[in-house]
Amino acid sequence: MRRPLVAGNWKMYGTRHSIDELLSGLNAQQWPEQVDLLIAPPALYIQQCREALGQSPVRLAGQSCAWQAESGALTGEVSPAQLRDAGCEYVLVGHSERRSLFGETDEVVCRKFAAALACGLRPILCVGETQQQRDANETAEVVGRQLQVILERFGVAGLAQGVVAYEPVWAIGTGLTASPEQAQEVHAMIRARLALLDDEQAQRVQIVYGGSVKAENASALFSMPDIDGGLVGGASLNADEFGAIARAAGQVQ
Ligand code: PGA
Repeated sequence: MRRPLVAGNWKMYGTRHSIDELLSGLNAQQWPEQVDLLIAPPALYIQQCREALGQSPVRLAGQSCAWQAESGALTGEVSPAQLRDAGCEYVLVGHSERRSLFGETDEVVCRKFAAALACGLRPILCVGETQQQRDANETAEVVGRQLQVILERFGVAGLAQGVVAYEPVWAIGTGLTASPEQAQEVHAMIRARLALLDDEQAQRVQIVYGGSVKAENASALFSMPDIDGGLVGGASLNADEFGAIARAAGQVQ
């Protein structure tokens, strides 16, 4: 049985003060035991989060990392080794904002995935199609291509060391959520694709959904058989809302 995972992506939001408040709110939540929980704060505030979370079950993730594992002359970057040193256990790679606004190609995403694994971080590989690609019936092809580079290099067993986040670009930050059926269809397609290569490993891969997940729609999404939790942006900046989403994941059998 796969454990559900609920991750909060704080993006470039927060100040020391607002993050203190958010962390107090998170520390007041009742967390479900059977769910992997994590937040991805801006890198500057990881230390602050680590200190405030203490023994909390909420783990830490980076929002991105350099494509090189160890230190080097890469001004402005944060290495996966540094994220690990700061207490992170996960890192997002290939978020659609990184792909579209910072020009990250599948090859760059693959290098980041490799660098993360090399440092003992679990990479969360984000994949998803734009509205235009969905309208042109290209969802399977686009998502397949985004997975392919990783699969060629690491196989399904390597992918299973990380997490897949299906995030349709048209649903991110727009308030438009994929319906549970639309999301399930893509999740099942991803798992079927992996199963063709290695059925046993494919059943182990956590595939989470992202794109306007809220407390209100979380249960319906998480009750789908191939949706193993969520990657939450906007709603993760509200501790009660994030807590409710986490508990929704804990209630799904
Ligand atoms: P959203 O963002 O929940 O605000 O749509 C999701 C994400 O970008 O990971």
